[in-house]
Amino acid sequence: MLSRRQALTVSAAGLVGGALGRDSLAAAGIMDGGWSPGRIPFGACVRIDPLQKEPDYRTAFKTYCQQLTPEGGLFWIYLRPTPAAFRFDFADGVLAFAAANGMTMRGHTLVWYGAMPEWTKGIEGAANAEREMTAHIEQVVSRYRDKIKTWHVVNEPIDDSKGNVPGLRPSVWLHSLGDRYIDLAFRTAHRVDPAAELILNEYDIECADGTSPKKREALRQLIHNLLDRGVPLHGVGLQGHIRGKYQIDRDGVFDFVAEMRSLGLSVHVTELDVVDNDLPGPIAVRDAIVAARAHDFLEPIFAAARPEIIATWGITDRYTWVPMWYKRRDGLPNRPLPLDADYRPKPLWSVIDYFCNK
Ligand code: XIL
Repeated sequence: MLSRRQALTVSAAGLVGGALGRDSLAAAGIMDGGWSPGRIPFGACVRIDPLQKEPDYRTAFKTYCQQLTPEGGLFWIYLRPTPAAFRFDFADGVLAFAAANGMTMRGHTLVWYGAMPEWTKGIEGAANAEREMTAHIEQVVSRYRDKIKTWHVVNEPIDDSKGNVPGLRPSVWLHSLGDRYIDLAFRTAHRVDPAAELILNEYDIECADGTSPKKREALRQLIHNLLDRGVPLHGVGLQGHIRGKYQIDRDGVFDFVAEMRSLGLSVHVTELDVVDNDLPGPIAVRDAIVAARAHDFLEPIFAAARPEIIATWGITDRYTWVPMWYKRRDGLPNRPLPLDADYRPKPLWSVIDYFCNK
């Protein structure tokens, strides 16, 4: 295991000298089984096509990760092409790869407004919505009982913009069931797998500007309300899709995480990446800002509570959702993730590695 001094040296070297080489990582004992008790696990989401086809992609997860998340295999749009069908091949493929390589898998996600198949627009009325949602959760959670120990039960419940304190985000579930759809999702998941750790997962709570301050407050209030109603909520997931152009609200993040911990919730960094479309083009500058933003996000989290996991949304800049929404105007490829498109570790990896060793 890395001593704290070694970890500091490694991470400082990475930050100053740019990407760490595989050799230095191996020498430091943090590759290929270098994980040891005491180190916070690192995870990433996985796409099934390159996992099946590209050895380098597989090697990256084996080298760095202790936990995987299927990137879209548990989205309704993939899993439920028709009301009757459940297509588990993607998630099963990631699970098999994880298990074969000593990694666990987390579940993302059971209830989300996004990535819904067309047919769900036809779900009308509270009784139908309740039936559809509970049947889905029963099928999926029971299939992976004992295999998936942590579920992002409800993803992104807070609306982005409306009002001083935003309300819940519109979805087929909110429309048909009202606020109680969140209670129903958690209670159902808990009934099906009482041992599973159940997470509420949200993004955009960390920035000092933009919509973050409002969303953070709305999420706080929602969590208090859920706990007051006795909903089996065990942890909060901070996605951490950091908007690179904003500073991190370090005090705000600290206060939020400390409050979550005081409520008895576990804290998870679930989808870290740095959205770099507005950052300067030169790679060294951009990578340094990306790493600094992640540092400024993780530092107050760790000051307030020890998170269960640091997970990024993808592992390599070769495969990232960021350009789908945040393409750069200068046409340069985005660089939001810990490894570059050729699988070389970037300064962001050094930051993550430093915190995993804390
Ligand atoms: C994204 C996937 O990465 C894309 O492939 C898909 O097209 C849309 O969803 N927050 C989340 C993730 O919780 O599920 C999203 O994933 C990215 C933002």
